[in-house]
Order: sequence, then structure tokens, then C-alpha cells
Amino acid sequence: MSEKRERGKQTAEAEPAESGERQGVLSGVWHSIFRGPLVPRSDRDRKLIVVQNFLLHFRPVRLPERSLRYTHTWGLGGMSLVLVLLLVATGVLMMFVYQPSPEEAYGSILAMRDEVLFGKLVRNVHHWSANFLVIVALLHLLRVYFTGAFHTPRQFNWIIGVTLLLCILASNFTGYLLPWDQLSYWAITISTSMIGYVPLAGEWLQGVVRGGTDIGSATLITFYTLHTTVVPVTIVVLMAFHFWRVRKARGVIVPRGPDEEPEEYPERVLALPNLLLRELAVALALVAFVLVFSVVFNAPLGNEANPGMSPNPAKAPWYFMGIQELLLHFHPFFAVVLIPLLIAGALLAIPYLRYDSDASGVLLLSHRGRRMAAIAAVTAVVVTPVLIVLDEFWFDAGAWLPGMPSVVSNGLLPTVVLAAALAGFYVALKRRYAASNNEAIQASFVLLLTALAVLTATGVWLRGPGMALVWPWIS
Ligand code: HEM
Repeated sequence: MSEKRERGKQTAEAEPAESGERQGVLSGVWHSIFRGPLVPRSDRDRKLIVVQNFLLHFRPVRLPERSLRYTHTWGLGGMSLVLVLLLVATGVLMMFVYQPSPEEAYGSILAMRDEVLFGKLVRNVHHWSANFLVIVALLHLLRVYFTGAFHTPRQFNWIIGVTLLLCILASNFTGYLLPWDQLSYWAITISTSMIGYVPLAGEWLQGVVRGGTDIGSATLITFYTLHTTVVPVTIVVLMAFHFWRVRKARGVIVPRGPDEEPEEYPERVLALPNLLLRELAVALALVAFVLVFSVVFNAPLGNEANPGMSPNPAKAPWYFMGIQELLLHFHPFFAVVLIPLLIAGALLAIPYLRYDSDASGVLLLSHRGRRMAAIAAVTAVVVTPVLIVLDEFWFDAGAWLPGMPSVVSNGLLPTVVLAAALAGFYVALKRRYAASNNEAIQASFVLLLTALAVLTATGVWLRGPGMALVWPWIS
């Protein structure tokens, strides 16, 4: 066994390696941060270990040196945590001023912006952190996927991660209504009206979410309670669980090249200070960035909500614009219920699909995997806009298939055609490149994800009055 391998094995098997000073709790804390864990030799040592275990609880004690490379994780998981902390801190501050009633909500936001010391900055930081969190958590998901970090023993952590992402969306969504301006009122009206398309229980479900038939004080108090207690508590609990699972997996996945075998005993170093210092640097840089961004760019605030006057176009929040765009092309049940459920189901199923090999740690699987992923992305960037334009100006289900119910002509039929096209793409790519299941699944994932990104971008930038297609630079 090589010397390096031997050292890796020793550190992997015997994590607590030093005894250190044993003068008191504070020196134990100091020791745990800067020198590593103690070996218990007395009752007092055991107590100190409890203290240091608390500090180290959510991070692995030692972790593979290679996994510390910044370009391996980009610090995206840590950044998500920092953004959650910023959100909680600024959210608590805003609760001192905000009034959750339709009569007072808008006024309290104006007061926060114009009268309260640093109120505008606190609101801006909260707003931008929430939006960055959606982006950063999505990028983290992509990093985890493309380094194959969802295979055993990390499958369950992938499920926790997807649940966290859904909670982050729920948190953004419930917070969106709180300013009670035109933008938020109508975005939530549009989004909650989509719930009405759920078969059988749609109207009832919409009534529950809105707390009545219309958006009003019951909706505001429901959203406020969800946004300030239920969702954040769920996120914090899930995050603790998520971190603990990373620790249980003995750190993040170890990166390796396409032709490299996984190392059985990778060389490990202490998480404190090696990981801590890196995470601290990323956290400080991120906080500085968010602060500067929040000084330069204000969180949007329109006129006070006017239930009698809908803006044109009335759009959902940007992270739901992909679904709103689908709604323009598919029967509502398919756009709002079935396709989003299929996407969520496919995301949750990722670790449990049939793979030819466990390629965890290899970025984008192989050279062939990279090429196939690039082809899939380019295909989606070209084909999605073509389909959007064809459907907008040419395809007319009512005229082409008269007498056929819209749920079939505008829902079932296009969904089946697109699913068949995806299956064809999968098989064709697999044959053409003699690819493995892993590579073909990855290419399909990239295709779908890019298509969703194109739909979202179209909804956000290329839809104008009446949701017609427009060029964004022509007002
Ligand atoms: C609030 C949201 C989240 C937070 C705070 C968070 C935090 C973290 C942290 C700190 C790590 C350690 C490595 C790193 O920094 O990349 C990690 C790893 C991981 N995360 Fe997340 N995460 C979040 C959301 C997600 C999502 C949306 C997914 C995917 C669906 C996910 C799946 C995973 C998995 C599977 C690992 C293990 C990766 C490996 O071993 O390389 N997480 N997460």
C-alpha cells in the first residue's frame, strides 16, 4: 500500500487523532476549531467532545483533500446557507415594521422604505437574497447532478435537496404577495388561479390557498404566516438534515477524471480550519456582493394593489414564468398540473433510474457525455423557440381538429408527441454515440432543463400586452 493511501486509510479510520489540552470548555472549543478533535481520556474530555461535536456536528470532521478544490463545488451549498441566514436576519428586522393587513401592508412597506433607518437597505437585501437563493440553489442542484453526487450513499440527500428547492420556491411565492402592490397582487392572482385547474379539487384547493374566492385579507394573513413561520422552520429543519447527511457520507463527493478509478482511501484533512476558512471567504464575498447589489438596485415596488385594475400583461413571478408560458400552448390541466408534476417526479426519480455504472465524481461522465450534453443543449435552444413560434402563428387545434375536446387536442396529443420525440432523441443519441444509459439520461436531462430555461426566458422577456410575442427593445 502506498504511503499516501496508508495515510488516507489511517485518517479515515481513526478520525480523532490528537489529545490536546484539557483545561476547560473554552480551550476545548478553541481546540476543536483550530487543532481538531480530542481523544477522550477522562470524563472532562468526554464533556469537551460533546462541545466540539456540537460545533462540528453538521460538517464532516475530516474530508478528502481533493474535494476542497473550489471549482469542484463552487461553494454553492454554503452560499445557499448564507443566503438563508441573510433572509432570516433581514426578515426578522422587517417584522418589526410590516403590518399584514390589506389596509396597512403597502403603507408599512412605504414607511420601511422611506422613514425607517436602513429600512430600504434591509428590504433590498431581503428581496435580492430571496431571488439569488433560487438561482444559487438551482446551480447547486446542477453541480450535484453533473458530478454524479446523487448515487449511493447520497440518493436520499438528493431527495432532501429537491424538497428544499420546493420549499425555497414556496418561500419566495408566499413572500411575493406581502408588499400588496399591483405587481404582487396580480402575480399571486395569476398564480393562484392556476391552482383552479387541478381536476376535481381545484376550486376547493384554490379557495384554501386564497382563504376565500378572491385575494384579500385572509390570503394575506395565510401567506404571511406561511412565509414567516411554517416555510422557514421547514427549511431550517431540512437544511440541518441535509448537512448531517453530507457528514454521514464523509464529506462531498471526491472529484476524479473520466479514466480514474475512485480512490478507496482518499487523503483526508481536518475540516477545521481547511474547509472553514474557504467557506468563510466565500460567505464574506457573497455578503459583500449582496450588500453592494442592494445599495445599487432597489427592490421593485409598484402602486398600491388595485383589485379592479389588472396590469397588462399580468405575469407570474419569474421562476413560474416557464409554467405560465406552457399555459399559452397547452390545455391548463397539462400546463399547470401534469407537466409540473412530471418534472418534479423526474427530479425525485433521478437517483433511482437504471444506470450502467456509478460514475460519481466524474464531471459530465466522460468526453462523450460532455459532447452529448452540448448537443442536447443546442437542440433545445433551437427547437424550443421554433415550436413556440409555430404554435403561436400556425398551429390551431380548434380549426385543425374540429370536434375534438381541447383536453385531447391541446393537451394529451401534444404531450404524447413531445414525449415520443424525447424518447426518439434518447434512442437516436444512444445509438449514434454507442452511449451508456448514464450518458443518454444526462443528455435528456440537459435537453429538458434547457427547454424549461428557454420557456422561462420567453415568458419573462418576450411576452408583452395580451401575452403576445414582442421584441423586448420595442416597447
Ligand atoms: C437551502 C438549500 C440548500 C443548502 C443550504 C444546501 C447545502 C449544501 C452544502 C453546504 C453541501 C456541501 C457541498 C457543497 O457546498 O456543495 C451540500 C451538498 C449536497 N447537496 Fe445541497 N443544499 C441545498 C439544496 C440542495 C438541492 C436543491 C439539491 C439537489 C436536489 C441538493 C443536493 C445535495 C447533495 C446530493 C449533496 C451532496 C453532494 C456531494 O457529496 O458532492 N442540495 N448541500
